[in-house]
Amino acid sequence: MEKVFIFDTTLRDGEQAPGFSMNINEKLIVAKQLAKLGVDVIEAGFPASSPGDFESVKRIAETVKGPTIAGLCRAVKRDIEIGAEALKPAERRRIHTFIATSEIHMKYKLKMDPKEVLERAVEAVKSARNFTDDVEFSAEDATRSDLDFLCRVIEAVINAGATVVNIPDTVGYAIPSEFKEKIFYIMNKVPNIDKAIVSVHCHNDLGLAVANSLAAIEAGARQVECTINGIGERAGNAAMEEIVMAIHTRKDLFNITTNINTREIYKTSKLVSHVTGVYVQPNKAIVGKNAFAHEAGIHQHGVLENPLTYEIMKPEDVGFPSSRLVLGKHSGRHALKQKLEQLGFADITEEQLNRIFERVKILADKKKEVFDDDIMIIAQEELLSLPVKTYELDYIHTTSGNRLLPTATVRLKRGDELLQDSAIGDGPVDASYKAIDRITGTPGQLLSYQIRAVTHGKDAVGEVTVKVRFNGTEVVGKGSSVDVIEASVKAYLNAVNKYLYRKELESQGIHVPSYELV
Ligand code: KIV
Ligand code: ZN
Repeated sequence: MEKVFIFDTTLRDGEQAPGFSMNINEKLIVAKQLAKLGVDVIEAGFPASSPGDFESVKRIAETVKGPTIAGLCRAVKRDIEIGAEALKPAERRRIHTFIATSEIHMKYKLKMDPKEVLERAVEAVKSARNFTDDVEFSAEDATRSDLDFLCRVIEAVINAGATVVNIPDTVGYAIPSEFKEKIFYIMNKVPNIDKAIVSVHCHNDLGLAVANSLAAIEAGARQVECTINGIGERAGNAAMEEIVMAIHTRKDLFNITTNINTREIYKTSKLVSHVTGVYVQPNKAIVGKNAFAHEAGIHQHGVLENPLTYEIMKPEDVGFPSSRLVLGKHSGRHALKQKLEQLGFADITEEQLNRIFERVKILADKKKEVFDDDIMIIAQEELLSLPVKTYELDYIHTTSGNRLLPTATVRLKRGDELLQDSAIGDGPVDASYKAIDRITGTPGQLLSYQIRAVTHGKDAVGEVTVKVRFNGTEVVGKGSSVDVIEASVKAYLNAVNKYLYRKELESQGIHVPSYELV
């Protein structure tokens, strides 16, 4: 069967969307899981866009084996040189260069005429070919471009050495039947099209990104660009899990396959949600909590008689856990290690395993049932934790009520020292943050506070994410606990510790870029 290549841009187009940023360690964990999932290409970032992107592309290129690692570069010589430098350590590397070809982008954004754009595209591809044989060219806003001009650009970049030509629906404007025709036109009109792989990259502004990608495959596209959970600019990109499972479930129509190990889909979706703190809606296709839940009596009856009555896919095909209850008080270290590996946390040290094990035991004592999500949160906190924590929570006591002045007493550990203070505030969280500020002498300004239940039930673990400004530096902190006040305090302390760690390194002359503090 023919293959369609899966180009994952979760770490580039996905990550560049507001609220989805990840730090380098988080990106590395996601990239390793994408490799396990079997994606063909990981677009690891846009190296010239920031030092953080450069560093994360480089680290992924050094560490992640299997997929091709791609870096996005504008059709600008310097961008391509920086991209090539970041991608140097990769086993297989791809430079992905782009320029817009639509009238509106050329006139108002680039202020270039079509001839200049064509020349720039050719130059960019030629310069990228000096660094690698694998060069992708994207005609940004292709779906709003003049089709014959687009064909001329594609022909020219293939002659210049592009091995993949990408037709992005940058603004999510296309309709499936129309997009299919466009791809078909390109496949038939561009004389050298057989020398390159045709790719598509669809945005979801009209909710049609997956439908458009599938239509393009029908017309001959053999690479699709997509993201886990469909994250990405504005309404997002085409969701990988939906494209892959559509091809898989309707192989009778597509007669095509992918390299994706579909059983890793659910786990990857969960990992991306946890790392970004953005959760998929329950009715989301393939990976939503309700994707395989049958509520109506008639449906339940049918499924019990024969699952095919209402299920077109088997939950286990996407790795959807039949029971999410995993560990209890009596589970051992070995079971935990296996579970962590399943959840995408491989290569953990004995010391990290012990720390996670202790926390899982404590949680199992407090809560009867420990779920995958609980373990994920603990693992994430432990594996992504700072090498040095100046302050740790030792004790917290708060009082509040509708007729009480909220107060908090907090005791923190700094090395062997115990430091305690109390404060009043607008609520117990505010009071605890004020008490912490008094102890640390480093007052923070709380910019945002978010709380969510990690699992279900009254005893669910709560996860708090805060953004705090210390002396002009913004830092994100996360903390979790079955007690929401404790989770709030841990999140704030995480931010305090990150800030102090940065200050400490800077006092030694080591600059810590702000992306490390996300
Ligand atoms: O949406 C878009 O056009 C892009 C390109 C850079 C591929 O993300
Ligand atoms: Zn895009």
